Amino acid sequence: MCVPSFVHERINIHHTMNKLKYNLEFVEFALAFLVNQVYNPVQISASGKRTDKETSEMRKFTKYLALALAVMLCLGALAGCTGGKGPVEPTQPADNGGNDPVVSTVKTVEAGKLHMSTNAAFPPYEMLADDGSFEGIDVEVAAAIAKKLGLELVVDDMGFDAALTAVQTGKSDIAMAGITVTDERKEVMDFSDSYATGIQVVIVKEGSPIETVDDLANAQMIGCQKATTGYIYCSDTPENGGYGEDHVTAYETGALAVMALVNGQIDAVVIDNEPAKSYVAANEGLKILDTEFAVEDYAIAVGKGNSELLDAVNKAMAELKADGTFQSIVDNYIKAE
Ligand code: ARG
Repeated sequence: MCVPSFVHERINIHHTMNKLKYNLEFVEFALAFLVNQVYNPVQISASGKRTDKETSEMRKFTKYLALALAVMLCLGALAGCTGGKGPVEPTQPADNGGNDPVVSTVKTVEAGKLHMSTNAAFPPYEMLADDGSFEGIDVEVAAAIAKKLGLELVVDDMGFDAALTAVQTGKSDIAMAGITVTDERKEVMDFSDSYATGIQVVIVKEGSPIETVDDLANAQMIGCQKATTGYIYCSDTPENGGYGEDHVTAYETGALAVMALVNGQIDAVVIDNEPAKSYVAANEGLKILDTEFAVEDYAIAVGKGNSELLDAVNKAMAELKADGTFQSIVDNYIKAE
């Protein structure tokens, strides 16, 4: 478990308080017995009764004695806790999943937290679970990285373009959103080692005249998610291999683009293969073209020049890959075909 050191301190205090209570109860019990004997052993055995005065005096005496003894015992206990016998053992750093302890020294937007900006509309990398929490490969991998760094993951959900901007402007520590590494993006943010391959594919309606990627040139309108590489490629000029801005509509999410396709407002959607698969599975009458539009690398983005965090992220990721954690997260979301 990822437990910050102040929690350990709280546990220690709690522990001491419990000891105190325990000591008090024990001492009170022992004294009650002793005082009983001192006050009137014979009477007890003879009549089995004491006067009220005797009883209350006895109780008072027992209480004071018990309190005094308990306090003494607890002072001893406290001395033990704070290292009366020598220097204090440092509190264990947060459990980071078994490997060498990583005491996080990386500075983050919020102390103790790792803020991840994302666009949770990109299954199976990031999406909303039924209970409103975030799930997906990126979310779980980021949580595992955060844990290794002794930080708590905070997912900040926003538009895809905003998620990229957030990490550039230092509003988030990392952006993780199935982000494709491109030269243009590298100019304004830094990328970790790649952790996945993304493929831009084309979704069309079954029976569509668009049968290959080349046929896209005949599409009246192509839909893409705003600010994605799919949009960037498609909206580029025909000389650069695109179809021109007039033939591309940018939607806030991939799901909205797919909805427009289902409704017959557009002819095709260009989007990453994994979300494409999940949208096609969820909507009757759609298919993914066999030919691929582009093959890309996904990586985690950090602010430009934040090499300290970048190194820590790369190291944590390498460990997650080496110990199988990374692959088991992926396997959980992407079933072998
Ligand atoms: N891989 C594409 C890109 O980087 C699309 C990513 C979209 N991600 C998302 N979470 N909506 O442009």
